Amino acid sequence: MSACGESGGTTTAAATGTETAGTSTGAPTTGPGEAPTTGGSTTGSTTGSTTGSESSSSSTTDDASSSTTASGEDLDMQAEDFVCLLEWEKVRKFRLTNMLGHLDEALEVANDPSGGVYPVGTVIQLIPGEAMVKRATGWAPDNSDWEFFALEVSAQGTTIMARGTQDVVNGFGGNCFGCHAKAAPQWDRICESGHGCDPLPFTPEQIEMVQMADPRCP
Ligand code: HEC
Repeated sequence: MSACGESGGTTTAAATGTETAGTSTGAPTTGPGEAPTTGGSTTGSTTGSTTGSESSSSSTTDDASSSTTASGEDLDMQAEDFVCLLEWEKVRKFRLTNMLGHLDEALEVANDPSGGVYPVGTVIQLIPGEAMVKRATGWAPDNSDWEFFALEVSAQGTTIMARGTQDVVNGFGGNCFGCHAKAAPQWDRICESGHGCDPLPFTPEQIEMVQMADPRCP
């Protein structure tokens, strides 16, 4: 993991700092419609959160610090940070962890019958090939600051196939945002059952089997 402030990220709160420090060629020249690729962030053209981040990061920081989570925190997941799903907490059907030390808070939200907002650093997966990561407050207001990931896993580890907010598709061509944005607001984009998302064509047993078969597990 490279939490904000480590490994070349900026130390300001706006997650946008780590984005622009990534592999992309820089906002002004990178046009919209750029295809998601491995590694770099792909959110620039759609979220608006990156707009002007380099020149006005202080104002974004101010917005971020009004949140309940400590300002300045961010989680820029790297491929090696994704591990065997069975090592994480199981909540109903999904697996959850928090890379920034807010696991208790994340579990509280997950178990709150009225929902809530997950703390920064929360990583949630249903199956090894897809993940949602809670970035810094203000990182992507249009997506409740979640970053979607399409992953490929093998015994050798994890490869990030795509990451971003509104442009990431899963192995079946389904757009993550297209479904998860339909979750009612109190669920913070978490679909589960009955939150308003279009359903997945998998039974709970099938989901459990896919988790148990995670090739990264010892
Ligand atoms: C067809 C709609 C649809 C698409 C497309 C989709 N999801 Fe989901 N996703 C769901 C539903 C519904 C669930 C809950 C399934 C369950 O609990 O039985 C879910 C569950 C999840 C979960 C577990 C937490 C939760 O919301 O219940 C994560 C994490 C997740 N999806 C990430 C992704 C990512 C990342 C992508 C894109 C790569 C994606 N999903 C694409 C509908 C979708």
